[in-house]
Amino acid sequence: MKATAIAHPNVALAKYWGKRDAPGNVPATPSVSVVMGGLETRTAVCFDASLERDVLALNGVEASGEPHARVVALLDEVRARSGVRARARVVTTNDFPTASGLASSASGFAALARAATAAAGLALDDAATSRLARRGSASAARSVLPGFVALGTEDDPAAEPVAPADHWPLAIVVAAVTLGPKDTSSTSGMSHCRATSPYYRAWVDDAPALAAEVRAAILARDLERLGDAAEASALRMHACMIASRPPLLYWTGATLELLARVRGLRAAGVGAWATIDAGPHVKVICRASDASTVAERLAPLAARTIVAHVGGGARVIEEAP
Ligand code: PMV
Repeated sequence: MKATAIAHPNVALAKYWGKRDAPGNVPATPSVSVVMGGLETRTAVCFDASLERDVLALNGVEASGEPHARVVALLDEVRARSGVRARARVVTTNDFPTASGLASSASGFAALARAATAAAGLALDDAATSRLARRGSASAARSVLPGFVALGTEDDPAAEPVAPADHWPLAIVVAAVTLGPKDTSSTSGMSHCRATSPYYRAWVDDAPALAAEVRAAILARDLERLGDAAEASALRMHACMIASRPPLLYWTGATLELLARVRGLRAAGVGAWATIDAGPHVKVICRASDASTVAERLAPLAARTIVAHVGGGARVIEEAP
């Protein structure tokens, strides 16, 4: 009745932003991501008949409200499918800043889906685990699988492999701008953007072509094409956000300075391209052999830099009856 799993966040090279009117967090745009090995969430789930309610400890602090409710919803689904009735104690820790736009919900719900199903004795394949994780956070569906991963927009989608982790030794240099939590969650940002941005429709119509380009560039190991399409996807998503009313502007001055520094690196012959999620941080894709040069150049503009490599999927590391 107890299991521990680890999972890594992922970064979308073709972004998902916006949800369809379908149940269970179905993206409005297809996405393609890479798992960020080197950043880790570790989640232990223990079903315990003596508990009166599910308890969540997040980085050593007992959580309530929205994060707790989302965890309970996933546990309820596991209980409904497994027949386990006991409440659970969930202990989860991140070795990187939480809820700040560094995709802690992706690794969090992927690790939770693996650990909770294992603890309940429920044998789910990768696709079913990915669908379960998606209910917590759509990007979490992608952190269940290793390497380069795609998530579609069909009803009840599961993440699908694009290429394994050893397909291409890329690095992702994370330049974290601030270490605190972000102001607007991606869920509320997406619905605000959909309701008020005149560019939302254009974003949704344009995104599939960029996702196809990102996928083709990964398969061809063409970094220039990948970087160019990934930057376009991130900047078009942010253009759509910024055009919301009131505007949804996740960037700070440091974000813009980092973008300029990445262009400067390219001008100096270093293959480096930026992407930005629902936060001010900049993540830079480059060859693993260029990662230390890129990290050194970005470090003076960032609160913290972390070099991630292409990582594995969510996996159970400990199980007990
Ligand atoms: O996983 P969610 O539903 O919180 O949304 C993630 C949205 C982005 O990180 C901005 C893009 C993506 O595809 O991961």
